Amino acid sequence: MQSSLMEKKNVFVFDNYEALVNATAELFVKLAEQSIQDRGKFVISLSGGNTPKGLYARLAEKEVADRIDWSKVHVFFGDERTVACTSPESNQQMITESLLSKVPLSRENVFALSDPDMDAKATAIDYERSMHEFFRLDSGEFPQFDFMLLGLGEDGHTASLFPGSPALQENERWFVDNKVEKLNTTRLTTTYPVINHSRNIIFLAAGKAKAFVLKDVLTGPVGKYPSQNVKAEQGKIYWYVDREMASEL
Ligand code: 6PG
Repeated sequence: MQSSLMEKKNVFVFDNYEALVNATAELFVKLAEQSIQDRGKFVISLSGGNTPKGLYARLAEKEVADRIDWSKVHVFFGDERTVACTSPESNQQMITESLLSKVPLSRENVFALSDPDMDAKATAIDYERSMHEFFRLDSGEFPQFDFMLLGLGEDGHTASLFPGSPALQENERWFVDNKVEKLNTTRLTTTYPVINHSRNIIFLAAGKAKAFVLKDVLTGPVGKYPSQNVKAEQGKIYWYVDREMASEL
């Protein structure tokens, strides 16, 4: 991919995973400072999976954590599996373990999902209600996250917006339960209207296995992958990837 196209798509390539997570942590610090300065708070939505674990560990390190005013940070979870909060599969468990339990964040600033392993529909409605209570918007308006962290799956999914799943068509609700046939499970996910309304959307992806997906997502026919429907309608998209991930570009 020519550097001009990479620039246009806001793709940033880092030598290795460590450099990638360090750079993403610096972006987090910068955007936190800007958001808190401009609006008095930094409202973030964090993604699950394996890739962001290194970022969360880096953000928890003193030399980075001390540069963030955590009292002004408000944390939501971008998506979750329908598993108990104590399950090793749980995104909120992983994020709490790797970051939230290690920084001076008050409990009321972390919006956890209640019982994701119980009634997914009810959990989604309950979580969406907590989002509405926090953002307090007029009906029809969508919330604006300052930092929407997303991953990329090998099938081009992001959050828990999987190919062919019903949530891909959701354009009114903020957070829904989403039946994922191919995984034979139901997931819980933030919807496109909310993701696309973010000030900053950061795709964090690494490794050779998904290099072909990234190339297709950025340059292939639109509509094939759910992550292609992520658009910066109100802000900016950043693709933060390592060299292996960018090897097909
Ligand atoms: C999840 C994530 C999901 C993830 C991608 C990439 O719940 O798993 O939200 O969207 O970001 O599947 O996962 P890896 O980072 O593990 O490759």
